[in-house]
Amino acid sequence: MKSHLGQDSRIHDRHSYSVVAAEYYDAELHPTCADFRLASKVFLERLFGKEKIVGRVADIGCGRSLLREMISPTSRFELVLVDDSDEMLAHNGPNTFEVRKTDVEAMPFGDCEFEWVFAILGDPYNISQAWKNINRALRYGGRCVFIIPSFVWAREFRKKGSHERPGFARFVMAGGAELFLPSLIYSPSQQRTLIENAGLRANAMDHVLVDDVPCVRSRKISEFLSGGDPIIDIYRAEKFQ
Ligand SMILES: C[S@@+](CC[C@H](N)C(=O)[O-])C[C@H]1O[C@@H](n2cnc3c(N)ncnc32)[C@H](O)[C@@H]1O
Repeated sequence: MKSHLGQDSRIHDRHSYSVVAAEYYDAELHPTCADFRLASKVFLERLFGKEKIVGRVADIGCGRSLLREMISPTSRFELVLVDDSDEMLAHNGPNTFEVRKTDVEAMPFGDCEFEWVFAILGDPYNISQAWKNINRALRYGGRCVFIIPSFVWAREFRKKGSHERPGFARFVMAGGAELFLPSLIYSPSQQRTLIENAGLRANAMDHVLVDDVPCVRSRKISEFLSGGDPIIDIYRAEKFQ
């Protein structure tokens, strides 16, 4: 298994979502992932309720695509699913959407093609090259919605949790094995710089608060955040004309 640090086989590179894919969506085994997903859904429902999402839309790092769940009989967007893990893509079952198996850190996933790019829980690939590929994939005037676990949570949790490592998410697998996958969560000003260095305009930041979600299952969240704290941060970026 490839690893960032060479000697430590428990620290995996970005391709290793395949390793957790079989149990990633099991909310009993991975309640923290389930809570962040639920918060992302709360945000998407708000967004789809107030903005028109039309045209070609990429869901990058889609896993089991939440955008699929936003499709209704009146939807007017064409969804393209992008992920570098076959096993995560397989969560979408056989479907009629275009699928691109692409590592967004290593190669473009589109060229002036998309009105919207969504990255839902995009912290594993929140690096400069992926942002440049987002810029490249967007049409002029196109927008990106990038959702990550909140900076407030990451700072508190990864500082106090004795088993944690900065820059990684720790997964304890059903069989007891522990593994670390990249999770890059920056302060708002650092994140803005990352977005703007890729040539995009960082034009808004939003949050979903703990109190906004119907329930929080994970003690990794409830023990570190109170009701008024953000559970996820959402960055909005635009490719200017
Ligand atoms: C935290 S999961 C989120 C999955 C999904 N968006 C959701 O909300 O359930 C991150 C996803 O990003 C994918 N991923 C990680 N690094 C990637 C990369 N470099 N290129 C494309 N996909 C990547 C993983 O395979 C995984 O499906």
